[in-house]
Amino acid sequence: MPLAPSKVKILVWDAPTRVFHWLLALCFAGAYLSADFDRLLAVHLTLGYTMLGLVAFRLVWGLIGTRYARFANFIRKPKEVARYAGQLLSFKAEHPVGHNPLGSVSIILMLLSTLVIVLSGWLYVSGGPKLIKEFHEGAAAFMLAVVAVHVAGVVFASLMERQNLARSMLNGYKLGRAEQAIRWTWWPIAALVLAGVWGFWWLQWQNPPHTDTIISVNTTLRFSNANSAG
Ligand code: HEM
Ligand code: HEM
Repeated sequence: MPLAPSKVKILVWDAPTRVFHWLLALCFAGAYLSADFDRLLAVHLTLGYTMLGLVAFRLVWGLIGTRYARFANFIRKPKEVARYAGQLLSFKAEHPVGHNPLGSVSIILMLLSTLVIVLSGWLYVSGGPKLIKEFHEGAAAFMLAVVAVHVAGVVFASLMERQNLARSMLNGYKLGRAEQAIRWTWWPIAALVLAGVWGFWWLQWQNPPHTDTIISVNTTLRFSNANSAG
């Protein structure tokens, strides 16, 4: 099907949304990969708290950001999500310029999961019971599953819409009508987010969180587990 002649490349994702996205993805991957190693616990905690900061920023940007970054633009009623899914299955879906209604579900789940994971991780390092640690791991596994569906959804939607949506999350551009474009990237805000994250990492590097007590509590737990299992 030829492109409707009115469709051109327009700016859709502002820079803060894009910087938020890739930092969140990076921190999630790092936090997951570092979770199993005692020696990397300080890295694990730092990336976890970075995710909390990123999501806090995103919650504010969802209220005051540009058109397609606003929650009001992409949080849909379950009925609308179901209708969109139905249209998609019959290849009749109208692809919105911003987040599509199904994508929005995964976005909300990832933002909420981050909060639950960080809260449970924090409760655990503050001396919470082992059950909290298991809950923490479970919440992280849940978010990993959502991420997998999210990435599969991006690939699927890219094929359906015949545009590379992953690239649009990098450069901000998607196909749409000229009047649908946002006007500015807001790059100074993105630069502030980046500077905030680098600053936090630098401070953590200078003065790493004390993880010895956590590690020894963990080792005791593991040891007592091994005993009770054997
Ligand atoms: C740990 C990995 C990831 C996490 C936690 C994550 C999270 C998110 C979040 C929170 C959003 C909403 C963006 C916003 O409006 O603020 C989003 C959107 C998006 N992400 Fe990811 N993402 C991950 C990996 C990826 C990967 C690997 C790709 C590319 C293949 C990707 C492509 C996209 C695209 C294209 C959108 C916009 C999609 C839409 O309109 O629904 N993401 N992602
Ligand atoms: C600041 C926030 C966080 C804190 C305080 C925290 C704390 C912890 C602690 C103390 C452990 C036990 C480590 C060990 O067994 O040596 C742990 C394990 C784990 N964390 Fe986190 N975490 C945080 C964020 C995250 C995030 C964002 C994720 C997801 C990417 C995550 C995923 C996991 C997983 C999967 C494990 C299990 C590791 C294993 O198999 O033993 N955590 N976390």
